[in-house]
Amino acid sequence: MRILGIETSCDETAVCVIEAEGELGDFQYKVLGNALISQAKLHEQYGGVFPNLAKREHEKNLVPLLTKALMDSGLAKDGNSLADITHILEREKELQVLLSEFLKTHGKPEVDAIAVTHGPGLEPALWVGINFAKALAHAWQVPIVPVNHMEGHVILSALTGGKDEIFNSQFAICNKPKFPMLSLLISGGHTELVLSKEFMRYELIGQTRDDAVGEAFDKVARLMGLPYPGGPEIDRLATEARGERFNLSHGLTTAQERLNLFHVVLPRPMIDSDNYDFSFAGLKTAVRKVVEANQPLTDEKKMEIALEFENACAEVLVAKTMRAIEEFGVETLVVGGGVSANMFIRESLVQAIKDYGYSTKLFIPPRELATDNALMIALAGYFRACKKEFAEPDSIRANGNLKLA
Ligand code: KG4
Ligand code: ZN
Repeated sequence: MRILGIETSCDETAVCVIEAEGELGDFQYKVLGNALISQAKLHEQYGGVFPNLAKREHEKNLVPLLTKALMDSGLAKDGNSLADITHILEREKELQVLLSEFLKTHGKPEVDAIAVTHGPGLEPALWVGINFAKALAHAWQVPIVPVNHMEGHVILSALTGGKDEIFNSQFAICNKPKFPMLSLLISGGHTELVLSKEFMRYELIGQTRDDAVGEAFDKVARLMGLPYPGGPEIDRLATEARGERFNLSHGLTTAQERLNLFHVVLPRPMIDSDNYDFSFAGLKTAVRKVVEANQPLTDEKKMEIALEFENACAEVLVAKTMRAIEEFGVETLVVGGGVSANMFIRESLVQAIKDYGYSTKLFIPPRELATDNALMIALAGYFRACKKEFAEPDSIRANGNLKLA
């Protein structure tokens, strides 16, 4: 089955075409074409994603990305489609013009279904992808499968975690996750622990009570005058600090080590609470106080704050995840979402599983696929399409708060 995946939930516009076959145990796929534009630099001036700017950029980017993905996949067809899509893209005038032009010069490619993110995310941004999918489905007469963005992160990580060669022209060998499977989903909008007793079934066991961990990275970076998105900036500063300044080659710190080594000590919110919930707003407030007390902020202080902040996040995430592994006898741990690109969090999870002596398999995607992309939507869409979960185009709605469970 060939699936065209479309992702526009936040500030990445992405289109991907895959060919996939089989079920979980014998599943294989290859990426035929994959194209992505990150808008992060454009949103930098707002210190976060500005929804209407994201919407406009998605409108501008989708047709060029589709063209590239189809060209790369060898599926681009000459010809034209006479379908009128203007009514479907009434609210996306720029996209309407670009897609109408595209359809005049391109025939229907051999794709079997279109998978599109319908939530969670920014609704104005989600709508662009959905309406684009509807217009293509109308022009090409192919079905649409709506995909939950978070399920995309889970399935991508579960199948490709630990693999290097994702964009092979050959069919890729996938992981075979075992159940119970636990997903630690850490992104700009989410911090969740989700338990799956079987594939594609989800039970939310814990989540943040305030800010998502990625949001905390972004806000803390902003407090220190670092550009958006803050996660990679803090990752870079903390890595530098850990290596050069403190020579901390080993994993997590103890409270005593912190007091001895660091000039900045931050709380580990909810680390001992008897549940799987998280809280990152207090951590951000604690950083604000440190920043205010240390004006003007030196580069050295920024490094110390980045290091201690990253330590605090990693320790809380690891502690709760290990507790859930123990309680639920987790066989596979999957980590997904933009924050799973963080080197220290990745290493801390690997180390903790070793230290606790768990036999749990850990699947984390390659760093470039930790953040949003359309491969994850195409993969999740494939499995939903296998279950014939196609939707009437008119029934598909953007749902900013769409839940996995
Ligand atoms: O999954 P994602 O691309 O978009 C959402 O669905 O939110 O995640 C984006 C988040 C941002 O908050 C960004 O700062 C964070 O992931 N992030 C990182 C790193 N790379 C991206 N956080 C920590 N360390 C990183 N290396
Ligand atoms: Zn995401």
